[in-house]
Amino acid sequence: AKFLTFTDGLVAVGDEGHLLPPQCSRFINKYHHFRFRDDDVLVMTFPRSGTTWTQELVWCMTHNMDLDTAASTPLPLRSPFIEFDALTHPGHGVEEILSQQFAERHPGQDPKQVGVFLDSAECAKSPRTLHTHLPFSLLPPCLLDTCKVVYVARNPRDTCVSYYYHQRLMKSAEYVGNFAEFVDLWCRNLVLQAPYWGHVSEAWERRDHPNFLWLYYEDMKENLPRELRRLDNFLGTGLTEDQLGQLTQHGSFSRMKNSTATNFSINPTMAKAMMTNDKSSFVRKGTTGDWVSHFTPELEAKFKVWETSGGEVAKQAAFRNI
Ligand code: A3P
Repeated sequence: AKFLTFTDGLVAVGDEGHLLPPQCSRFINKYHHFRFRDDDVLVMTFPRSGTTWTQELVWCMTHNMDLDTAASTPLPLRSPFIEFDALTHPGHGVEEILSQQFAERHPGQDPKQVGVFLDSAECAKSPRTLHTHLPFSLLPPCLLDTCKVVYVARNPRDTCVSYYYHQRLMKSAEYVGNFAEFVDLWCRNLVLQAPYWGHVSEAWERRDHPNFLWLYYEDMKENLPRELRRLDNFLGTGLTEDQLGQLTQHGSFSRMKNSTATNFSINPTMAKAMMTNDKSSFVRKGTTGDWVSHFTPELEAKFKVWETSGGEVAKQAAFRNI
């Protein structure tokens, strides 16, 4: 657990060698043939880029601003994570609920083979707000011709810092190394769901597709109402100025950090099932530029070398603001 973020190691799959735990072999073909519907919205990100934030916003927008349900129902039950069976360990906070639903839907079938998270995504009611960290090449080739995709990019230095705390926090990873060791793994593209550049580049190539919206975490931090208007136009949800104002409040960092539906760290059942005793939190600090207080000059020099490996397109795509 110290040098690789999963005890059983990780395997590289797909064009870009996307790193997943070995159990992914049971599911990877199913992800490639996942049946998207034309009213789906898929939130796609490299981990720790603002996925939870964007899922929450998209879910509210596409569910008539039902903020009561949003506050009372954990986000993973409202917005299925397509490949979670390949990532999680037994005992995830919502697994029990999903397993019960699975048993009712498929009496006698083995949930481990089918995947309870995958099944819950497949069976969820429309309109679905799905989410994934898989890159385009591991999903159906017709994805963008079928449904809308919202991609969120975040500068890789902050993403790396956030991922470090996340991997210490999650029981599935139980990362126990220090930050310098994590940066080393990151720069060797050995963290879960690496490589970062491959992920971002595959999305950047598709940025002009009409069913695709590119968001930056940094833009959302800078001016959330502006980005919500872009989202509203893209999704065609036609929200009023009042509703956009409500959503700006609902999606604020403090609200999301203090909500048991979005900050799994303060939901006792989910926290116990998913998280270690690390002092961090799933919705953690929510700032831009936090990397400055974590990177020594040596680590920054190492990271810069890794950054050049991304090439010009990748840099343009990832560094909205650093
Ligand atoms: P930090 O660890 O830097 O705080 P993901 O959902 O993709 O795992 O991303 C998690 C990151 O998004 C965390 O970053 C988390 O704090 C941040 N985040 C979650 N909700 C947010 C919000 N409403 N406003 C700003 N940042 C938010």
